[in-house]
Amino acid sequence: MTSTDFIVARDDLEQCKVIATELPDADSLPPDALLVKIDRFAFTANNITYAVLGDELKYWQLFPAPNGFGNIPVWGFGQVIASKHPSVAVGERLFGYFPMATHLVIEATDVSKRGLRDGAAHRQGVAPVYNAYARVSGDPAYDGRQGDYQALLRPLFMLSFLVDDFLAETGDFGARTVLLSSASSKTAFGLAHLLHTRGCKVIGLTSAGNTGFVTSLGCYDEVATYDRVTSLPTDTPVAFVDMAGNSALRAGLHQHFGEQMKCSVRVGLTHRATDADEGALPGAKPRWFFAPDQIRKRAKEWGPGGIEQRFGAAWSGFAPLLQRSLSVVESRGPEAVRRIYLDTLKGRIPPEQGHMLSLLG
Ligand SMILES: NC(=O)c1ccc[n+]([C@@H]2O[C@H](COP(=O)([O-])OP(=O)(O)OC[C@H]3O[C@@H](n4cnc5c(N)ncnc54)[C@H](OP(=O)(O)O)[C@@H]3O)[C@@H](O)[C@H]2O)c1
Repeated sequence: MTSTDFIVARDDLEQCKVIATELPDADSLPPDALLVKIDRFAFTANNITYAVLGDELKYWQLFPAPNGFGNIPVWGFGQVIASKHPSVAVGERLFGYFPMATHLVIEATDVSKRGLRDGAAHRQGVAPVYNAYARVSGDPAYDGRQGDYQALLRPLFMLSFLVDDFLAETGDFGARTVLLSSASSKTAFGLAHLLHTRGCKVIGLTSAGNTGFVTSLGCYDEVATYDRVTSLPTDTPVAFVDMAGNSALRAGLHQHFGEQMKCSVRVGLTHRATDADEGALPGAKPRWFFAPDQIRKRAKEWGPGGIEQRFGAAWSGFAPLLQRSLSVVESRGPEAVRRIYLDTLKGRIPPEQGHMLSLLG
């Protein structure tokens, strides 16, 4: 039996190909192992960032690929088609981190009513969320279109939720306005929704072609194109959350706002512009936001279930915006996956689309 895997050259992401990898058959699976068929997965700019940071943040180690290539991790759904674990039945649905492939062998460990982990040696030493699977059979929140929203948005909205919490906790560092770059991205508009809901003024920075979409969301008070950011008023303190990772844009904003820039948080790299040496910038020093730190802090302060409960409430408030603003596009088969991958890499996906893919024909 084989799995169809979609892999990319680590040093040139435009090079990609489909390969077949050998799988053990059901009888020769090791003890406690599961053979999972990967039904469908979400693909957004976030997955491209996993590839860009593949070496640095160990994403390439999760799903090994032949020399010089990598398999990009994706969030999606799989079905157990063979099981050597006494508590996991054939037919179970799992939600979690998968390779771009048709199949994965999971060494099931820490199996509980709600989830399990892949205990494979090469998947250790990363944040626990990257080897955890939720058991979602029969759960309507993970079924059909709701399931697509979970795969497309849940991991991104967790970041939006954590950044909002981080800013709120500090009184937004004294800022009256929050600026978000790549305002059309799902991570940014999730954050804009949360900021807007608690009464912050939010300005979305985006490219000319995406202003219509960003304006239509209704959670940005103002929208400015990248070439107009230096005409934004500087009379009130601002915080900047950077989804684009474009050093020229960041430097321009710091120069423009000077000491009014009270906080500058780096979150994403959608523009993949090379990190030019910015030198010392006026205003607050830019720093990366590290989600696991905020999770650890809140887990301690809010106790068991505290994050999940608050996140669940935030998600419920966000769902209507998703239903209104995001259309899910499904594509199947290696050629379609290749096309959507390259369109995402080159920034050609309209922001109102959320892509769900499958390598199964
Ligand atoms: N640190 C973390 O833990 C964490 C967690 C979640 C997400 N993130 C990051 O947040 C960013 C957004 O992810 P997402 O999945 O929400 O994105 P998405 O919804 O797929 O965003 C697409 C938007 O990104 C910009 N973009 C994408 N590709 C581009 C390209 N090649 N050239 C120029 N612009 C491009 C465009 O926005 P504009 O025209 O508006 O610029 C586009 O509309 C990613 O870098 C992701 O890794 C980080």
